[in-house]
Amino acid sequence: MSEEFYRIKRLPPYVIAEVNAMRAAARARGEDIIDLGMGNPDLPPPQHVIDKLCEVARKPDAHGYSASKGIPGLRKAQANYYGRRFGVDIDPETEIVVTLGSKEGLANLAQAITAPGDVVLAPNPSYPIHTFGFIIAGATIRSVPTTPDEHYWESLDRAMKFTVPRPSVLVVGYPSNPTAEVVDLAFYERLVAWAKENKVWVLSDLAYSELYYDGQPTPSILQVPGAKDVAVEFTSVSKTYSMAGWRIGFAVGNKTLISALTRVKSYLDYGAFTPIQAAACAAINGPQDIVESNRELYRRRRDVMVESFGRAGWDIPSPRASMFCWAPLPPAISHLGSLEFSKQLLTHAGVAVAPGVGYGEDGEGFVRIAMVENEQRIRQAARNVKRYLQSMGVNTGSKNAG
Ligand SMILES: Cc1ncc(COP(=O)(O)O)c(C=O)c1O
Repeated sequence: MSEEFYRIKRLPPYVIAEVNAMRAAARARGEDIIDLGMGNPDLPPPQHVIDKLCEVARKPDAHGYSASKGIPGLRKAQANYYGRRFGVDIDPETEIVVTLGSKEGLANLAQAITAPGDVVLAPNPSYPIHTFGFIIAGATIRSVPTTPDEHYWESLDRAMKFTVPRPSVLVVGYPSNPTAEVVDLAFYERLVAWAKENKVWVLSDLAYSELYYDGQPTPSILQVPGAKDVAVEFTSVSKTYSMAGWRIGFAVGNKTLISALTRVKSYLDYGAFTPIQAAACAAINGPQDIVESNRELYRRRRDVMVESFGRAGWDIPSPRASMFCWAPLPPAISHLGSLEFSKQLLTHAGVAVAPGVGYGEDGEGFVRIAMVENEQRIRQAARNVKRYLQSMGVNTGSKNAG
């Protein structure tokens, strides 16, 4: 009996899981770990959303199998969101499918549209499902950069010229997890034109659509006229409404791709629990003040993080969007590499971060720091980091961290 499973062999041990296991062990020993590792929102969803969940759950007829493609009201709510936020017209019948979180949607769309040996262009570094969704489906990944500069376009063109078979899909995700990089509408205009010319599907991951901090709302690829000919976009209530555990996301856009994903899902699931879908409608259709106040809260955390870590002797760039700082290792100890540095931060500073190498080889030299603890805890993390850096002989200047 073989224990060498084809797909499992292609999934390396999850690097980030190593740090997570160390964090769990430290906590089990009673240590106070400041957890800036996972992108797991620490804020509660709006109260009216929880009330709606309870109200619908009390109905005796709300407990059967739900609709795999999502209840009509939720698809309409998401179409309305695209209308009011991006000015994009979406048909809730044919251009939207509700997913069990955007991660599930990305993975199952990969299954739906990929044949073994197909070549997929995915950013490096990136959120793991952007690559592993396709690797599980049997595809080969050709990495392209995450940074959306001229080198990015050159890499795309080179990939089309020299890869056999020609790549069939391109994954993009801005604001980026982990790098927090953003793009403007002109980028998507160029991308849509490029995809049409090269006959490549584009999958855009817009999980951080509402977490932007410089007053410039994050664009959607679907704002580009004709984008629906080549693109599908994934969004989610996980970060926007702090509902990560509820598992509700959306795929929106090209009818052919939506239909393929809907078909695969119809074999795999019965949709999310109806009360959860009804509550997600309440989130999207209801008052949006929480979206703005959460954005402001993350923006303050970002400023505190950049300032207090800077005073601790570690300069980290200020992200314009997302829930993350993408921080180069302090130069004096960059030889440790991102995994060892993350382990040392956990052990000696009681601070969990995510090693950049967990997001692809081009993430080496960086760690991802999530803004998922309050300002006081972030300042405490900075003080702990300062002590650790001093113990490593790093010059942290004379100012007090925090
Ligand atoms: C870029 C990106 N896409 C998708 C997801 C998954 O989101 P969901 O909870 O909707 O599956 C995450 C979660 O961290 C993410 O960072």
